[in-house]
Amino acid sequence: MLDLLIQNATLPDGRQGMSVAVQDDKIVEVSPDLQAPAQHTLDAQGYLLSPPFVDAHFHMDATLSYGLPRVNQSGTLLEGIALWGELKPLLTADALIERALAYCDWAVAKGLLAIRTHVDVCDERLLAVDALLEVKRQVAPYIDLQLVAFPQDGVLRAPGALANLKRALDQGVDVVGGIPHFERTMADGAASVKLLCELAAERGLQVDMHCDESDDPLSRHVETLAFEAQRLGLQGRVTGSHLTSMHSMDNYYASKLIALMAESQLHAVANPLINITLQGRHDTYPKRRGMTRVPELLAAGINVAFGHDCVMDPWYSLGSGDMLEVAHMGLHVAQMTSQSAMRQCFDAVTVNAARVMGLENYGLQVGCHADFVLLQARDPIEALRLRATRLKVFKRGRLLAESPASASQLHLAGRPGQTDWTSNNAPLISPSR
Ligand code: FE2
Repeated sequence: MLDLLIQNATLPDGRQGMSVAVQDDKIVEVSPDLQAPAQHTLDAQGYLLSPPFVDAHFHMDATLSYGLPRVNQSGTLLEGIALWGELKPLLTADALIERALAYCDWAVAKGLLAIRTHVDVCDERLLAVDALLEVKRQVAPYIDLQLVAFPQDGVLRAPGALANLKRALDQGVDVVGGIPHFERTMADGAASVKLLCELAAERGLQVDMHCDESDDPLSRHVETLAFEAQRLGLQGRVTGSHLTSMHSMDNYYASKLIALMAESQLHAVANPLINITLQGRHDTYPKRRGMTRVPELLAAGINVAFGHDCVMDPWYSLGSGDMLEVAHMGLHVAQMTSQSAMRQCFDAVTVNAARVMGLENYGLQVGCHADFVLLQARDPIEALRLRATRLKVFKRGRLLAESPASASQLHLAGRPGQTDWTSNNAPLISPSR
């Protein structure tokens, strides 16, 4: 007997009327209209069954601290970093853990079951590292949490940062981070990239750097990152996060750079909500959008994910752990409005983000973990349009969270009724692929 049988689901690739069978935490069959005895059977009613959302770039040590000790007045990245510096001495492990766990509850409710979070290591106490390692242990049954050792104040610029970063890795932090554009000079930034990539190669770890998070068209650290990935044989194991300076670069240079990034099999993570908010702050009009060149990177065969980056912290006052909101913003900022481009935006918060994190057995194929989210939408584009309700969230075949379907009860004279915002009764454009 199966543990779970989901019937009449639509899958992200467009297949309809599909059944997904689960046994021993794994998907054992995916086929049309399967009938088999199961302990639990769920009629998906034609709604979209997706692998869970994945956030490839987050800061869980800062989340839900909005207003502590004060609010970012200028809205800039640099004031956010300064504000975080004011908050750091006031942090306690208990408060940090409490806020992170509260965020993880939000994540589960939104079908977000894998998160790569950067954790600041520029603190002699490594308080945030200890706290997030504890959070990782506590949420392991329901969230894959991956930690990046992130030297927020610059691995060369901040005294003791390199030693702290190594200690964090010794304690079990998974990935080597960096922030070359925050080092004192372009040369120091490049040196930090080289140093950190060498450290990752020595230890057999992945790299994920905040890279060129500025509007400076001459910032060149992603070039160094791609070069070092190639030189050290780290192809496919290195991620460049933010890359906002690419928005402002000369087009000829960008075309040369993107080819190098593709050769190095670099992953790229854009953070649309934050990039559109923080960048362009020194501009009058026109104001730059600041997000990296997502369609061009994808066209070059580079794996691109969207990250949430911040939720209610010194850099960003909004957010709710909803990766569909992230993808929705990415779609607009990058003007990715064709059918195929909108589907790529959905991929950027699911399969592409899973590739960034190197998640194994992620997806809806036979043999994959039985992790999924049932969305109140008929396809990925509708899921984006509606930021669709997560009707059910499953981990290893077990129900983790459920939300009632959204519908509005109308009270119009002579026309009582209910509006369902899905396209259930409307003609659907057949997806072109
Ligand atoms: Fe970030």
